[in-house]
Amino acid sequence: METNSLDKGIFSGDSSGTREDIVALLTKAYWMEIETVMSYIAASTNLDGVRAQEIRESLATDVEEELGHAKEFANRIKELYGVVPGSEEFRAEQSFLQRLEHQTDVVAVIRGVIKAETGAIEHYTQIIEETDGVDPVTQDMVISILRDEQGHRRLFEGFLREYEFEGKA
Ligand SMILES: [Fe+2]
Ligand SMILES: [Fe+2]
Repeated sequence: METNSLDKGIFSGDSSGTREDIVALLTKAYWMEIETVMSYIAASTNLDGVRAQEIRESLATDVEEELGHAKEFANRIKELYGVVPGSEEFRAEQSFLQRLEHQTDVVAVIRGVIKAETGAIEHYTQIIEETDGVDPVTQDMVISILRDEQGHRRLFEGFLREYEFEGKA
């Protein structure tokens, strides 16, 4: 039985270029999540001080969510006939979430988290645009991940506002 390319959607032969483009976008997203896991584990562990407790706990929760996102991206790469890269292909980009000079510098961590979440939001918005009408399954998955990132950013914007209100940021 013949099936036309429309029935196969993103899996049709005609769509192989598009599928490769989407795999490339998903691979970048995968690395962003992996790096975020590293950065948030370090920050949630290193921060000192009474005031840091809330931030530590919040980041520890986020680590699990970001790891879940990384797995979702990896699975989708596989489903689209891509290959999840090996660790040697990793290149760090979060210069804004590096080892702190002072482990009580909660504000630096909050600003770093907001920047990381904003980067994710921008990239995932791009994936949603590029998959529109082409790959609804990837689009649907990324929409739900985007919502998580918006929630993370909103929470940390609230933390930052508190510090700004008190003149500490
Ligand atoms: Fe994430
Ligand atoms: Fe996030």
